[in-house]
Amino acid sequence: MPNAYISGTGYYVPPRVVTNSQLRDVYGIDTTDEWIRQRTGIVERRFADEGTGPADLAKPAAEMALRNAGLTLRDIDMIVFATLSPESAFPGSGVYLQQKMGFCDIGHFVPALDVRNQCSGFVYGLATAASLVMSGQHRHVLLVGSEVHSAALDLSTRGRQVASLFGDGAGAVVVSATDEDRGVRGWALGADGRYAETLCQRVWDMRRRPFIPVDERGVGQVVPEMMWAHMDGRAVFKHAVERMIGALMQVFAAHRLTLNDVDLFVFHQANLRINEFIREQIGAPPDKFVSNIERYGNTTAATIPILLAEAVEQGRLRRGMKVAAVAFGSGFTWGAAIVDW
Ligand SMILES: CC(C)(COP(=O)(O)OP(=O)(O)OC[C@H]1O[C@@H](n2cnc3c(N)ncnc32)[C@H](O)[C@@H]1OP(=O)(O)O)[C@@H](O)C(=O)NCCC(=O)NCCS
Repeated sequence: MPNAYISGTGYYVPPRVVTNSQLRDVYGIDTTDEWIRQRTGIVERRFADEGTGPADLAKPAAEMALRNAGLTLRDIDMIVFATLSPESAFPGSGVYLQQKMGFCDIGHFVPALDVRNQCSGFVYGLATAASLVMSGQHRHVLLVGSEVHSAALDLSTRGRQVASLFGDGAGAVVVSATDEDRGVRGWALGADGRYAETLCQRVWDMRRRPFIPVDERGVGQVVPEMMWAHMDGRAVFKHAVERMIGALMQVFAAHRLTLNDVDLFVFHQANLRINEFIREQIGAPPDKFVSNIERYGNTTAATIPILLAEAVEQGRLRRGMKVAAVAFGSGFTWGAAIVDW
């Protein structure tokens, strides 16, 4: 059975920077830089321009990952695309990325799978991609996380609790087969559907007829409570801390690891306070953590692959290092993975 290692990483963030103060000055949200910084650690985020979807952000990230892996489109056997902000209800973003990258132009009709696990999407996707590689089914799986949140944020004072947290961006990795003693060692995934509506963006309700109410002209009417994300911030905070620590301890126990064995902790970036609280609880040194929430906010499924790609680019993540990636998000869903780089 081959091992599954990460052979290349890439990322892309849109160029437009939106600072906390600009949320107030440009969008008229009643907020302050101080409030957002103190509560979340976020200083600024990126917003994509109109006309840009998650597959557009994913393309340069994926191309960078392929370049860094020394591979071409023909080498890729499958696309796994993690996002909570797909272009449309269906099809998923994976097929848009496939078409944009030129797979179809060369007649390379690889399967494309979308993963819908929000902030845990990358870790769920990694487990999926690694399983496919370790089973011998595929040699190289392109795994991306990409989000365009800015289009679906209520950028008004009413929506400020959620709108101040999220940003746009994309990260990608190639998961490849190897006979070397390295790669994805294992993972622990979990979910608790009792909290499905504690953090959600419903938009429609497929149990209703029609699924979106219509006016007398047959035009769909989405009320604000359905259109925008709903979040109980305090409940999310509490569960994120418990579940991220739990998932990390589960993979540590399964692989007989201790904190000292890990060289780099790559945590989902929902809130700097969540991650600092966990770091203090487990007693890990700050220099073993990478962070980008200050610059990008919460980029959901894109967060962990962006962190990995930045860490490689900066020389902080090198061959032989042991990485612990941990995520928590809507669902609630969570996961942790151990990777020998
Ligand atoms: C969202 C979060 C920062 C809010 O912090 P909090 O200390 O819990 O603050 P609260 O929600 O209790 O709000 C306190 C007050 O600040 C206000 N507020 C909310 N967002 C604000 C903003 N951007 N600017 C200014 N005030 C804001 C609230 O309206 C509330 O006002 P009120 O007391 O008059 O009603 C925090 O709960 C959090 O980070 N939770 C986790 C969220 C998360 O990680 N989500 C993604 C998961 S993957």
